[in-house]
Amino acid sequence: MRLTVIGCGYLGATHAACMAELGHEVLGMDTDSDRIACLNRGKAPFFEQGLDDLLATHTATGRLRFTDSYTEAADFAELHFLGVGTPQLPGEGAYDLSQLFAAVRQLVPRLNGPAVIVGKSTVPVGTAALLTALVRELSPAGDRVEVAWNPEFLRESCAIEDTLCPDRLVMGFFAERTWAESMLRQVFAEIIEAGTPTIVTDLATAELVKSAANAFLATKISFINGVAEICDLVGADIRRLAEALGHDDRIGIRGLRPGLGFGGGCLPKDVRGFMARAGELGAEGMLSFLREVDAINSRCRERMVDLAREQCGGVIRGKRITIWGAAFKPGTDDIRDSPALAVAQRLHENGAEVVVSDPMALDNARKAHPELHYIDDPIAAVDGADLLLHLTEWAVFADIDPRRLAMHAAALKVIDGRGALDADRWSAAGWVYRALGLPSLPDDREQVSRRG
Ligand code: UDX
Repeated sequence: MRLTVIGCGYLGATHAACMAELGHEVLGMDTDSDRIACLNRGKAPFFEQGLDDLLATHTATGRLRFTDSYTEAADFAELHFLGVGTPQLPGEGAYDLSQLFAAVRQLVPRLNGPAVIVGKSTVPVGTAALLTALVRELSPAGDRVEVAWNPEFLRESCAIEDTLCPDRLVMGFFAERTWAESMLRQVFAEIIEAGTPTIVTDLATAELVKSAANAFLATKISFINGVAEICDLVGADIRRLAEALGHDDRIGIRGLRPGLGFGGGCLPKDVRGFMARAGELGAEGMLSFLREVDAINSRCRERMVDLAREQCGGVIRGKRITIWGAAFKPGTDDIRDSPALAVAQRLHENGAEVVVSDPMALDNARKAHPELHYIDDPIAAVDGADLLLHLTEWAVFADIDPRRLAMHAAALKVIDGRGALDADRWSAAGWVYRALGLPSLPDDREQVSRRG
């Protein structure tokens, strides 16, 4: 099939490459001409495992091209995916839908005949209905241009696998058995035939599935981090607790990793966007529920700064603090709403000399936070450190020998914000190992065993 993908950021570029991989003729469109030039060279403007290979393969065969022309996109196909960004409005919780509406205003008047426009971007429920009305108004082909919604659930760092082998497909249409549905079923035929659960809904339900999925994932993380606050008060162990909860099939261990909480370009924004929409709709109960999910997540960052202060003997000012991690999670160079950088910035504001190391995200971090110091080598970054914070769980960090590291640091104190370091190994190497929701090692446990 021939199709376009309007908006070639993380979602759109990955979707375009994966649609070419499925055998379709794909034209990606974006208004950013630098991004288009980069993609046409077969390179992604961000890091995502395997994406450069896919782009290089399919731009070479000619099955995948990129343009900055709406006219070219309108002429290219009858099927158009919308993957433009829907960021958070500055200073507000609500989504900024301007890119989405601008794309429709540009594309639709250029369509010469019937077409299907499929939204993939995350939006507040009700947006597809507004876009349908706008399309009817602008389209020369009137209601022969249909709007459908096909939310995207991809995770950064496994975006290709999540697109080609999703755990479910959700497709929302304005009526039953539309032309849009038959088009989408053809596009995804290989995925559907592989047995992927396919759920067909109305437009509003499809939009809401995405909001609800991300709100649920965020809730799970905040739940365990909320319980970690209780663990801190009574000296209990959040990791063993999470492990014990996870064995209950109804709960499950995935997404129950306690620590510094969630960040990135999706979960924080989507919780706030859902909250804003719940407020507009008068759903006060959901609004206050989500507010607490967000608040617990913010508290994780504050508690980390408090724990760092405690480990610095009550005074952060003048201390050299090394932070392992800048990306919002491992496997990406994305620093959007990165918990690690949020903590780094707060420590810097409190007068610490902050040194950050990350295997992939330092270029992006440097641009966003020129006030911090950056060292590529995670071992050299610990030279003279009064405290080490492990805030993004890259495997390279867990592989470092804490005994070797002990020769570099000024004080052997580590806070593991992601629970990915081997606590016993670090304390055996002489480090005071601390984490949110855990009794400290060696001190508290020794005291507990002495008490025992
Ligand atoms: C998320 C959703 O998973 C995806 O379905 C949606 O389409 C986009 O948002 P992503 O932002 O790539 O994907 O990250 P994800 O892997 O879900 O992690 C989000 C954040 O939560 C990260 O900061 C991660 O470190 C944190 N996290 C995740 C935890 O703190 N604990 C966990 O148990 C899981």
